[in-house]
Amino acid sequence: MSDSISESVIGRLAIEKKLLTLRELNDCLEEKKKIEKEGKKLQLVDVMLQCGYITRSQLQRLGAEMDDSITQRAQQIPGFQILGKLGSGAMATVFKARQLSLDRIVAIKVLPKKLGDNPEFVERFYKEGRAAARLNHNNIVQAIDVSESGGYHYFVMEYVDGKTVYDDLATGKIYGEKDALQIIIHIAQALEHASVRGFIHRDVKPKNIMLTKEGVAKLADMGLARETSDLKAAMAEAGRAYGTPYYISPEQIRGEVNIDFRADIYSLGATFYHMVTGRVPFEGTTPAAVMHKHLKEPLVPPDHIVSTLSAGVGEVIERMMAKKTTDRYNSFSDLILDLEAIYRGEPPLQARSQVDAGLLHELGEKGEAIEEQDYDVDDEPSLARVSLVWVFVLAAGLGVSIIINIIQVLLR
Ligand SMILES: Nc1ncnc2c1ncn2[C@@H]1O[C@H](COP(=O)(O)OP(=O)(O)OP(=O)(O)O)[C@@H](O)[C@H]1O
Ligand SMILES: [Mg+2]
Repeated sequence: MSDSISESVIGRLAIEKKLLTLRELNDCLEEKKKIEKEGKKLQLVDVMLQCGYITRSQLQRLGAEMDDSITQRAQQIPGFQILGKLGSGAMATVFKARQLSLDRIVAIKVLPKKLGDNPEFVERFYKEGRAAARLNHNNIVQAIDVSESGGYHYFVMEYVDGKTVYDDLATGKIYGEKDALQIIIHIAQALEHASVRGFIHRDVKPKNIMLTKEGVAKLADMGLARETSDLKAAMAEAGRAYGTPYYISPEQIRGEVNIDFRADIYSLGATFYHMVTGRVPFEGTTPAAVMHKHLKEPLVPPDHIVSTLSAGVGEVIERMMAKKTTDRYNSFSDLILDLEAIYRGEPPLQARSQVDAGLLHELGEKGEAIEEQDYDVDDEPSLARVSLVWVFVLAAGLGVSIIINIIQVLLR
């Protein structure tokens, strides 16, 4: 593991264990930068100790945390030799292992035993895991197998030698536009491949985007069944400082049953936003407050936060993160066209054509509504737009009749 990865792992673990707040971690990172500017080299943990946010014994316990009993369980999985722990998330622990039959390195995600008690979850876990193993794309972490050992269910997948986008963000990194675009294009391609084969990821976020040492982005956890409904999963994340639902789509918050690929477009947009601005789209002191903002609050355009961003990036993100699914991109292929266009420095035509179509549709609807209903004060802006269209139509008509008159005069 590189220094920055192990540092972010410690920082993250400290936050998850509620030893530090996100603000305190940021203070430590700032302090570390200051010290480094003076030419001194210091580890993040030293700064945490120095600032008095964490004690030495808490730090030792954090280390021990990385070597718990689930490791012993993993060591008993037949056919694999466990080589070490790669990380752990809310639901599971991931190990690096050698698959003895094929003599290759893989990653194994071991789920906690309690999940095995839920037959509905276990059924979905196997069904979705096996289906995902049939997907094959360079930007998707390859699912290999799902199985069970000693009451523990596990998921075998391609091992990615690298880090996650989250690891970068946790060190305070803000991605340059082009670097972010390269990653987002890779992941959009992965999601397009999955969506045309009937898969919705449901949990696109920086922690699930891995970056190889060669700079290839890979989407992790594709096909990994979630514990319960998206709403329940979001609420379950509520207790954890880092797990606040920053990337979840409005329809998942509403607990809609028939969500589609556009939920993934929203979450990818929220991830893109975080990468280029260094901020999550909606902050809040509680998960409920964050979710409320996903539902109701207009997005601060990313180019208002980082003025060097191109307007195109702002337009694309706003379209990806539209609150109404029908206002988002109609397909991943349309989104990819726009991402590639802005990468080349060209305008995002798909987003614009959709704005135009949306506006016309809205005007049509309002026009009909005005004929049917009495004038309503709330409709004033739309009425103004409808009037404007009529002014254009009349002006165009007037222009045509003037031209006809001139031609007639000339022909006389
Ligand atoms: N295929 C893989 N190859 C290498 N490392 C991996 C792989 N999959 C996951 N990891 C590492 O294991 C960590 C834990 O992954 P996991 O999916 O359990 O949780 P998460 O996605 O980080 O967080 P959360 O549980 O909140 O979704 C990841 O952050 C990553 O560092
Ligand atoms: Mg994950």
